Amino acid sequence: MRALIIMIIMPSFAFCQNSKQQKRSSNQFTVTESFEPDIDISLTATPTEIQLFSGEKTQVYTYRSELIKGESTSLQQIPNSYLGPIIRVKPNQKIRIRYNNELPDESIIHWHGLHVPQEMDGHPRYAINNGKQFVYEFVVNNRPGTYWFHPHPHGLTGYQVYKGLAGMFIVEDNQNNLPSDEYEVPLVIQDRRFDPSNQLVYLEDNMMDRMIGFLGDQILINGQSDTSMEVDKATYRFRVLNGSNSRIYKLAWSDGVDLTVIGNDGGLLSKPINKSYMMLGPGERIDIWRDFSKINSGEQLSLNSLTFNSGTSMGMMGSERGMGRGMMSGRGNMQSSNSQSQSGMDNGDAFTVYNFIVSDNEGEVLPLPADFEPIKQLNLSESVNRDSPRQFNFHFQRMQWLINGKTFEMNEVADWEKVKLNTTEVWEFINSGSGGGMMGNMMKMPHPVHIHGLQFQIIERDFSQVPPDVWNSMKDGFIDEGWQDTFLLLPDMRVKVALRFEDYTGIFLYHCHNLEHEDMGMMRNYEVIE
Ligand code: C2O
Ligand code: CU
Repeated sequence: MRALIIMIIMPSFAFCQNSKQQKRSSNQFTVTESFEPDIDISLTATPTEIQLFSGEKTQVYTYRSELIKGESTSLQQIPNSYLGPIIRVKPNQKIRIRYNNELPDESIIHWHGLHVPQEMDGHPRYAINNGKQFVYEFVVNNRPGTYWFHPHPHGLTGYQVYKGLAGMFIVEDNQNNLPSDEYEVPLVIQDRRFDPSNQLVYLEDNMMDRMIGFLGDQILINGQSDTSMEVDKATYRFRVLNGSNSRIYKLAWSDGVDLTVIGNDGGLLSKPINKSYMMLGPGERIDIWRDFSKINSGEQLSLNSLTFNSGTSMGMMGSERGMGRGMMSGRGNMQSSNSQSQSGMDNGDAFTVYNFIVSDNEGEVLPLPADFEPIKQLNLSESVNRDSPRQFNFHFQRMQWLINGKTFEMNEVADWEKVKLNTTEVWEFINSGSGGGMMGNMMKMPHPVHIHGLQFQIIERDFSQVPPDVWNSMKDGFIDEGWQDTFLLLPDMRVKVALRFEDYTGIFLYHCHNLEHEDMGMMRNYEVIE
C-alpha cells in the first residue's frame, strides 16, 4: 500500500526529462519501486572522529557507506580514511544512492562530471536537512573515467568538503590493457591546516582567505596523513583528483621523467601524452601511467608540485599580509607569495605531494598502449553561435567574485543563460579584472571553471593577455584535448569551449570551483530548454 502511494505521487522522476514536472521539494525523492538498480548504496554524511595523527583524534565529516545491492567491488572503502568511499560502476549501470544527512547543516551530493537529469545533479535547491533522505536514481551514461562526488549546499560547500566529504566515482574501462587492481591507485590530493590539538582549521573569518580561497599547509592524500606509499616494480595507473578547495598543483615527477597522462576529466585521451608537468586546478582529474619496474628497490621518488606564478593580485586587501607594500610600490600587483604568508604554503610554492618507495616485489609490467579510442569531436560547424560565443566574464566587483556582474541566486536564470536542447554552442570564459578601475585590475586570480551536467571540449585557449611571468610558469601544463568538465582560467585568459546540450532539460550550475569563490556566489544557473 505504501509503495503504491509513493508511486502515485512520484512518477518515475529518474527518467523524467520534462522540466515542468520537476518542481518538487527534495523530501519527495524517495525510492522508486519500478527502478531496478544494478548498484544500490546508502551514503550517510555524518560527523565522526578519526585517529589521523598521534594524540588527539580529529573531528571530521565522513560518508558512512553500505552496499545494499551490487558486486562487492562497487563500493570500496579507503582503509583508515574518512574520505571516500570509492564508487566503481560500469557504463550503463543503473545506480541508486540513498543519501542520508546526519550533518548539523543542510547538504546534498553533486556527482561531479556526470551527465544526469537536473534533479539528480545535486543542485543546492535540493539540499536536505539533518535527518532527511534524498534518493538518487540514474543510469551511468558517461564515458569510462574518473569522476567524483561532494556536497553542494549553497554557502557550505567549501566547509563540508574541507571537513572530509568527497569520494571518487569511477566508471570502469576494463577493455583496455591498463594497470588494474592494486596497480590502479586513486590519489585524492587535498591541503589542510591543523591546530595544535589536531583539529582542522578553516578560514577563521579571515577576509583574505575567503577572497583568495582556503590554502592549507599540509598535504593529505586520500584523507591520510602518510607521506608515502610503497610500490612494486610494476606499471601503475594513478587516478589523480585535485580535491582541494582552492589550491592548484603543478605536478611533476622528482626524477625528471615526464608525466605520462592517459586521461583527464572525461576519461581516456585518444593517446598518451607526455608532459614535463601538469597543472591541476581544484576539481580536475588526470590519469597518470608510470613504470616503476626499472627502478632499484629501496629507491624513493616523489610526485612534486613545482613552483609557479599564479598571477594572484589582491592589491586592496588586508595590509597585514604585506599588501600595503604592494600598493606603495605603485604596481598594485602583489604576487601570491606575499599574500599568503599566514598559510606558510602559497599557491605556487614548491612542495612534495607524495613519495613512492620502490619495493623488491616484481609486479605486473604492462606496455603503455599506443592509443585509446578516438575522441569524437563536437562538430563546430553545427554550433549555433560559433562566431559570437556566449561570453562569461569571471571578475571581481563590489567586494565579491561575480560572473557577468551577477552573483548566485538559487532559482534565477538570466536570458543569456538559456540554451536549447539538442544544440551545440561555443562559450567563451574571460578572466578580467572587472573592466577597469583600480580595484578591478588588482583583484585577479586563476579561476577553475566547472560546468555541471555535461562534458565539454576546449577549442581555444587565448593567453595573449596573460602576464608573461604567469603564463611561462604554467604553459606546458595544460592538455586541451578530450572531454573536460573543469579547466583553469588564468588571469586575463580567454578560453572557448564547445558544449552540446543533450538528453536533459532543466537547470544546471556553472561556477568557479575555488570552493570559497563558489560559496561566495561565483556561481550561476544555466537552463536547457526544449
Ligand atoms: Cu565539483 Cu558544482 O562542483
Ligand atoms: Cu574563482
